[in-house]
Amino acid sequence: MKKFIENRRTKVIKIDPDNIDWKHLQEAGQAIREGELVAFPTETVYGLGADALNKEAVLKIFMAKKRPFLDPLIVHVGNMAEANCLVDVFPADAKKLGELFWPGPLTMVLKKSKIIPDIVTSKLDTVAIRIPNHKVALALIQEAQRPIAAPSANIFSYTSPTRAQHVLSDLKDRVDIVLDSGETKIGVESTVLDVTVKPFKILRLGGATWESLREVIPDIIIGSDHAIIKKSPGMLKKHYSPKAKLILVEDKGEEMVKRIQMLAQLYKSEGKQVGILSCQGNSEKYSGFLVKILGEAEDLESCARHLYSHLRALDNEKCDIIISENFSDRGLGRAIMDRLRKASG
Ligand code: TXA
Ligand code: MG
Repeated sequence: MKKFIENRRTKVIKIDPDNIDWKHLQEAGQAIREGELVAFPTETVYGLGADALNKEAVLKIFMAKKRPFLDPLIVHVGNMAEANCLVDVFPADAKKLGELFWPGPLTMVLKKSKIIPDIVTSKLDTVAIRIPNHKVALALIQEAQRPIAAPSANIFSYTSPTRAQHVLSDLKDRVDIVLDSGETKIGVESTVLDVTVKPFKILRLGGATWESLREVIPDIIIGSDHAIIKKSPGMLKKHYSPKAKLILVEDKGEEMVKRIQMLAQLYKSEGKQVGILSCQGNSEKYSGFLVKILGEAEDLESCARHLYSHLRALDNEKCDIIISENFSDRGLGRAIMDRLRKASG
C-alpha cells in the first residue's frame, strides 16, 4: 500500500464551476468509482475524496494524509435522499436544519446505517454527513454515483487547503486527480453538529455560525473541550497548525498592538523571522515586519477566507514565529478564533 501511495502521478484538471467540462467530471467520477483519490473544491476548503462505500479506497485517504485511524471522516452527498440512505435515524429537527442549511457548511453527526464501512467512522456508531455548496463538488458526487468520504486535503494537523496549489504542496503524487477551481469561498471548514444528543451540540465551529443555527433551533450549545474529545476523538488540541510557532495575542485594542510590537521586536532581536497576521486597520502599526492582512476587522468573511492561505504564505516565507491579532468572537469570528487558538496549541 505504501508503494502504491507514493507511485501515483497526480493529474491536475482546471474546472470552471460556471462552465463545467463534463468530460473531465466524468473522468473524475470514474476514478472515484474505481477506488482512486480525487481532491476537489468545496465552499469551505478542498477535500480529499474517495468512495465512502469502498473501504480500500478510504484506507488510501488515511495513508495519503498520514491521518490517524481514530479520526473519522465526513461523508459528502448530493441531496437529502442520499443522506437518508446513510443514516439509521434522521431526527425531525436535524431534517429541518438540513433543509435550511444544505447545501452548505454544516456537517451533521447522525446514527449511521450499516452500509458505511467502519473505517469511515473510526468504528463509531455515528456518521458525519454534509451536502457541500459547490457546483464542482456536487457534479463530482453526481458523476461518481457514490457518497464521497473526504477530509480536508492536507497532511494531518497542518492548515487546510483553500487553493489547489495548497493541495499539491501537501499531497502531490499521493492523490490521483486534483480538480482546481481556484480559491474556496468560505476558507474555514464546516461546522460539525452532533444531532444524536439533546440539546444538539457543536463539536467544531465553522462556516455555519452558532447564531444562525440558533435562529432555527434555539437551544443548540457549543460542546466543551472535554465533550468534544470524547465524541470526536480526532479533534486533538493542536490542529490546523502552520509549521511556524503561532502566538495568538488575546489583549484588546491598543494593548494588543503594543504587545504584538513588543513580541515582534523581541523575537527579531533573537534573529528570528517574524510574521504578523493583522486586520487592515492595524497593519501600518507593524511596519518593518512581514505583515499579512486578513481583511477589515469587521469583515469576518474576508478574514476567514484568507486565514489559511496567509498562514501557508508565512510558512513559505520561512517564518519562525507568527504573531496573530485576535478577532471578534462572534459569528464567523468564533471559527477564526477557534482555529487560531488550536493552531497556537
Ligand atoms: O468543510 C469541511 O468540513 C471539510 C470539507 C472537505 O468538507 N472537511 C473537513 O474534514 O474538514 P476533516 O476530516 O478535516 O474534519 C472533519 C471532522 C473531524 O475532525 C472529525 O473529528 C469530525 O469531523 N467527525 C467526523 N465524523 C464524526 C463522527 N462520527 N462523530 C464526531 N465527529 C466526527
Ligand atoms: Mg481537516
